Amino acid sequence: MEDADAIENLPGVGPATAEKLIEAGFTDLMSIAVSSPQNLAEMADIGVNTAVKIIAAARKQADIGNFETGSEVMEKRKLVGKVLTGSEALDELLGGGFETQAITELFGEFGSGKTQLGHQMAVNVTRPVEDGGLGATTIFIDTENTFRPERIMQMAEGQGLDGKEVLSKIRVARAFNSHHQMLLTEKAQEIAREHNVRCLIVDSLTAHFRAEYVGRGALADRQQKLNKHMHDLQRFSDLNNAMVVVTNQVQAKPDAFFGDPTRPSGGHIVGHAATFRIYLRKSKGQKRIARLIDSPNLPEGEAVFSIVEEGVVD
Ligand code: GTP
Ligand code: MG
Repeated sequence: MEDADAIENLPGVGPATAEKLIEAGFTDLMSIAVSSPQNLAEMADIGVNTAVKIIAAARKQADIGNFETGSEVMEKRKLVGKVLTGSEALDELLGGGFETQAITELFGEFGSGKTQLGHQMAVNVTRPVEDGGLGATTIFIDTENTFRPERIMQMAEGQGLDGKEVLSKIRVARAFNSHHQMLLTEKAQEIAREHNVRCLIVDSLTAHFRAEYVGRGALADRQQKLNKHMHDLQRFSDLNNAMVVVTNQVQAKPDAFFGDPTRPSGGHIVGHAATFRIYLRKSKGQKRIARLIDSPNLPEGEAVFSIVEEGVVD
């Protein structure tokens, strides 16, 4: 792993310290460069003075980034692509569809439509730009074995598209555990170097993390890993001008352990990293209600849509 090598090669860091840092979730130079000495010292169990030196060295080597002018940021914003959902109400709520250069989190209880909407966006991204897509490929990281090619075919054909052709533009991988899920995100970046990938779906973002890191003692560890994962996803989105869609289950009823049902798991780590957060809930029959929460430039609000044979519609 080149990241591990980069950390071990920092002046003042030997193999033992490198191991401590990596164990504590500091798996790349950037995560060290942006840490405070106290935090690094505490998490990696090293002295504060050592931490100060390591951070200084990491800052020299990592590309911390520069300030851009507002106009430069505006230029980059102009490249933001939007993908229609199939429901006008939902598109309107989202200011014209799902955006690239952003992570969109879909959260809600089981059956609320997270996976369905994920499938729909995978299909819609393949459509040409004039039809509300990006004419691009989707990478789908499937952690719960709920990806269904048949459903993709159905949705594609529901829009008069060639189902087989759409399927050929979706690359799916099963993630067997959270570590594998993170490795697949790296792999996705490799694929994106060679193909026009503008969409990455992680369904579910949190299920493996929740299953593997159980209890209070594991919380800090889980949050660190999730944090790293969210950073990787953000990077993917920036590098490829892609939309990243992640799903996150919440309990329907208040729960002693998870607390507030409307609060998605992963807590503020996932919440802060996501640009758009959409809370989905079931309504009558095929109807679903989407609530936009915490958007940088759109008002909060709700939209009603339906999941039918042909996919997501009004
Ligand atoms: P979890 O992953 O369990 O947390 O749920 P989820 O939010 O991913 O739910 P999902 O997107 O899988 O939604 C399942 C619901 O979508 C089903 O209960 C159906 O109501 C609807 N649905 C799924 N497939 C079809 C279909 O082929 N036709 C129609 N009409 N509805 C479908
Ligand atoms: Mg699902």
